[in-house]
Amino acid sequence: MKTLLELITDIVSTGFEQSGYEPSYGKVTLSNRPDLCEFQCNGAMSGAKAYHKAPLMIAQEVAGRINGNDAFEEVSAVAPGFLNIRISRGYLASYLDQMSEKEKFGIDLPKSEKIIVDYGGPNVAKPLHVGHLRAAIIGESVKRICRYLGNDVIGDVHLGDWGLQMGLIITELEDRKPGLPYFDDSFTGEYPKEAPFTLSELEEIYPAASAKSKEEEAFRERALEATKQLQKGKRGYRALWEHIMNVSVPDLKRNYENLSVEFDWWKGESSVDGLIPGMVEDMKKKGFAKESEGALVVDVAKEDDTKEIPPCMILKSDGASLYTTTDLATLLDRRQSFDPDHVIYVVDKRQDMHFIQVFRCARICGIVREDTKLDFLGFGTMNGKDGKPFKTREGGVMRLEILIDDIRKTMYEKITQNHEIDPGEAEKISETVALSAIKYGDLSNQATKDYIFDTDKFTSFEGNTGPYILYTIVRIKSILSKYAGTSASLPQKIKACENESEKALMLEISKFSTMIMSAYEEIAPHRICAYIYDVCNAFNRFYHETRILTEEDNARKEGWIALLVLVRNVLETCTDLLGFDAPEKM
Ligand code: ARG
Repeated sequence: MKTLLELITDIVSTGFEQSGYEPSYGKVTLSNRPDLCEFQCNGAMSGAKAYHKAPLMIAQEVAGRINGNDAFEEVSAVAPGFLNIRISRGYLASYLDQMSEKEKFGIDLPKSEKIIVDYGGPNVAKPLHVGHLRAAIIGESVKRICRYLGNDVIGDVHLGDWGLQMGLIITELEDRKPGLPYFDDSFTGEYPKEAPFTLSELEEIYPAASAKSKEEEAFRERALEATKQLQKGKRGYRALWEHIMNVSVPDLKRNYENLSVEFDWWKGESSVDGLIPGMVEDMKKKGFAKESEGALVVDVAKEDDTKEIPPCMILKSDGASLYTTTDLATLLDRRQSFDPDHVIYVVDKRQDMHFIQVFRCARICGIVREDTKLDFLGFGTMNGKDGKPFKTREGGVMRLEILIDDIRKTMYEKITQNHEIDPGEAEKISETVALSAIKYGDLSNQATKDYIFDTDKFTSFEGNTGPYILYTIVRIKSILSKYAGTSASLPQKIKACENESEKALMLEISKFSTMIMSAYEEIAPHRICAYIYDVCNAFNRFYHETRILTEEDNARKEGWIALLVLVRNVLETCTDLLGFDAPEKM
C-alpha cells in the first residue's frame, strides 16, 4: 500500500498536471514548519524557472485546483511559492484504518534477498565484556529488521576460536599440568571425556597466559607454535580445543540468551579451516596471490585510493593462516552453503581496514558473486561518563554479566520503590525493563558514533529511554485491558479524529512505512528509536488531554480504542525489532 506521502504527492502532482505543469513538481514532503502545516510542496519554486512565471502564481493555481479535494483540510499558497498542506481528518483516519487491517501495517515488501548478518564475534575462552555488547545488540536488531522485511536471513555468531588465544591457553596449561596426556606425543589412547579445567579456571588461564606472552618472548613463541600445531591438526591439541569449546560455548550461549540474542549458526573461524588449502591454491593458480617477503599476499590497492590500503595477507611466512584468511574462507563457505545476496558485518569500526581488505580480496579472487553486497556496519565505542572506554569502578574490563546485573538491580529498586509488588514479579519485570534500558540506550544512537553509557539516564522513566517507551506501552495495554473488561471485543474502526493531539498522534503513526524502509535500507535501527519516541510523546500528550475510558459518547470512545490498538501493535512491533519486549505491567 502507498505511503501517506505518496498518496498526497499523487494528488498534488495531478493538480500540477491539470494546471498545465509537469506532474513531477508535485512532490510532497513532511513540513519543516510543523507550526504552519503538516506537509509541504516546493514544486512551484522549481517550476518557476522552467515556465517563466512567478512561483507564487503557480502555487496559487495548483492550490485552487486541489483545495476541494477531500484529502485536505486546507491547502494554502504562501510566498515565495510554498504549498502548505493540512491533511483532512477523515482521510488520515481512513489511511490508519487500512494500516491496521493490512499485514505489517501495509508496507510494500522489497524484493526478498538471502542475507547473512555476521555479529557477536565473541572469542572463545574469554568472558564477554562490554565490547561485545554493541555487536550483539545492533546485530540482533539488524537481523530482525531484515527478516521483518521478508528476507531469508541467517545470523552467524562467527566465533573467534582458531587464533592465538587457543595457543596461549594450551601453552599455559602445559606449564601448569605437564603430566596431562594431551602433551604426551607418544600417547595413542583415548583422551579423557572430562575437561582438565572448569569455566572459571579457563577464564583465569587466558588472561594469565596473555599477560605472560607480553612479558616472555619465549612463551609467546611457544604459543604461536602451539597455535600452528593446533591448526595443523595435532591430536592432543585438537582434543584440548574440543574441551575449551565444550566448556566455553554453553556459557556464551547462556549469556546471549540473557540478552535475547539468538544465532542461527554457531560457526566460527575453525569451521572453515578445511577450506583454506584449496582456496589458497586457487588464489595462487589464478595469479591473484603472490609471495612477498616469504608471506603470501593479494594486492588490493586501487589507483584512486585516497589512503594507503596495504596488501591483504593470506598466509604468514611460517604458513600459518590469519584473521583475513579465515574471513575469506568463511565467505567461501557461506557461498557454498547458502549463497547469500548480501552479507552484513556488525563489528567494531576500528576493524574498518580489515574489512576493506577482505571485501576487496574476495571480489578480486572471485570468492563472492559479482553482485553479492558486502557491508561493514562498524560501530563506535561505548564510553563511560568520563568519555573514555567503559570500565569498572576499579578500572578493569567490565564483564557483560556484571553490567547487566547492575542495571537490573537499579531497575528493581525503581520498580519496588513506589508501589506494592510481589518480589518475584518485580524481579521478572526488572529484567525486562533493564534489557530495554541497555538496548535502547545503545540503539538510539547512530551505530557508527561513540556513545556514553549513562546508567542514570538510561534507566530513567522519563526522556528518550527504553523504560519510557515500555512505560508508555504498558499504559496503553492497561487502558485496553480495562476496556476489554467491559466489552466483548476491541473495536477495529479508526474514526476521524476530533482534537489536535489525536491528529498529531495519527500523523506520527502514519510514518511507519517510510521509517521502516529507511531503517532497512540504511541499516539503521536508530531510526526506529526516533520514530517510537515521537509516537510515545504524541500518545502521552493525547492521553493527558483525553478521558478515554470515561467518555460518554460511545462511538467516539470506540474510535479511540481502535486507535490505541494500532498504536500498541506498532510500538510492540518496533520494540521487537529492537530486540526487547514490554511487560504487562510495571
Ligand atoms: N572475534 C573478532 C574480534 O573479537 C570479531 C569477529 C567479527 N566478525 C568477523 N567475521 N570478522 O575482534
